[in-house]
Amino acid sequence: MHSVLLLIPLSGTCLAQQLDLTNKDAVLKAAKAAVWPLRMFFDDNTHSNGAWVEQWDDGSWNVQWHESGEYWSLFYEYMLHSGDASYLDWVDKNMQLSAGSHADFLDGMNPFLETAGRWNDDIGWWGIATMAATEAFGKSAIVAKNNLQQDFNPTYFDLTNNTFEEIWMGWNTTFCNGGIWWSRSRTVGTDAQKFYKSTITNVEEMELGARLFALTGVAVYKERVDEIYAWLKSSGLLAADFTLYDGLDSRDCSINRAVYSYHAGCLLAALSFMYQSTKNTAYINDAHKLLDAIKRQLIDSNSILSIEPSCAGTTCQKSPHGYSWAVYRGLGNLFAYSPDAAVKSSVSSIIRASAAKNFVGCDSNWYCIRNMPVGTGFTLQNGTNVRDQFETVAILNALSVVNGGAAAVAAPGATQGVSNNKGSGAAVASQTGSSKSAAFKFNAAFVLQVVVYLLV
Ligand SMILES: *[C@@H]1O[C@H](CO)[C@@H](O)[C@H](O)[C@H]1NC(C)=O
Ligand SMILES: *[C@@H]1O[C@H](CO)[C@@H](O)[C@H](O)[C@H]1NC(C)=O
Ligand SMILES: *[C@@H]1O[C@H](CO)[C@@H](O)[C@H](O)[C@H]1NC(C)=O
Repeated sequence: MHSVLLLIPLSGTCLAQQLDLTNKDAVLKAAKAAVWPLRMFFDDNTHSNGAWVEQWDDGSWNVQWHESGEYWSLFYEYMLHSGDASYLDWVDKNMQLSAGSHADFLDGMNPFLETAGRWNDDIGWWGIATMAATEAFGKSAIVAKNNLQQDFNPTYFDLTNNTFEEIWMGWNTTFCNGGIWWSRSRTVGTDAQKFYKSTITNVEEMELGARLFALTGVAVYKERVDEIYAWLKSSGLLAADFTLYDGLDSRDCSINRAVYSYHAGCLLAALSFMYQSTKNTAYINDAHKLLDAIKRQLIDSNSILSIEPSCAGTTCQKSPHGYSWAVYRGLGNLFAYSPDAAVKSSVSSIIRASAAKNFVGCDSNWYCIRNMPVGTGFTLQNGTNVRDQFETVAILNALSVVNGGAAAVAAPGATQGVSNNKGSGAAVASQTGSSKSAAFKFNAAFVLQVVVYLLV
């Protein structure tokens, strides 16, 4: 197999980074290095509620609460792919703080939290994080197995399922025939907020439902995924050409035609998982059409995921804007479950080209964080841009999948009954090890079809 060496010069003088983008072990090694910078600034920048400081005292933004959910996803996904549990206790300690004693991210649907920045889409990202942990450690694995406290060790599965249920409470057929509310409140906020049905909420719920269905086979998950999906189509939010619009105002069912990449990421994940567990080709055919739309709208002529249609120029303050993290994951899921060799080849080209572009900023320790001018938005107060490292690890996670690493989820039922309550990191390693060997076999059959990837 032809291998491509990525040589990244630092400041044009020395070689800072060498990575074979087609080598799974090399990618996992890079990921192992890159998770340390991902973690390193967190402890000093929290209010001890299991999330990054969201806003500084001067009102400027750091890492929004929902993005902290995505942050934990990156770690759990890394653990799933690598079997490396070095960070598990630390991540879990924060997840335990976040989940509290009600096994959800709303402190038992506390009405204050429900209106204070924890809307349906926000909690969805946290549910996606604990979903990854459920896939990594099994349906009966508990949060913070090494820190047992009455009521504070829910299973990752219950956290995920409860979040799925709480979001589903917002499903509403009275207005515009369906869809889940963006906000959890019909009394607090502007009418435009209260009556908005956002696509992101609906596709996150689909992703959760699809992954829960893949894990459990429980029919209600599939029914809801199908119901939401039918509504996305009938409402016009998912257009015939698979453009996915931002949402609709349920007062007149008018569509907001903004397009954001992360919507497509979650939908791609949902459709790929649904195909994986049902083998119904309707799902994967639609996933392929969605990939075509992603290529038209989000991928540039060098195969790099770089276009954010409604966020062009200076309209987005965040850099990276954070919308692409979900897309890398969705692309990885499509790669893992699509039976189409051309699709797989196309997805791996996109991920490798995006990796080559993004890793240019990394040093030899896989520290990829830029120092921005003090006061830059969405950075630490001294300008340290931790979001850069989120982007790097998101891409490395996807790269490990396209290089035949652990598939995104173990076979349904495979991990049931395995509790991480008893084991140490070794249990994690052996568990993901078994799903890895299945992935290896799959990869061996696939190697012959790999189109030689040329770095341009
Ligand atoms: C998910 O949560 C709901 C609501 O608590 C519960 O009725 C359902 O049984 C749970 N699903 C599973 C598979 O445990
Ligand atoms: C939809 O939401 C409206 C506003 O809260 C409520 O009056 C109505 O009963 C809901 N419909 C359903 C089917 O839940
Ligand atoms: C920026 O702040 C963090 C703490 O929040 C600190 O650890 C880091 O060293 C600082 N970076 C610089 C370049 O001063």
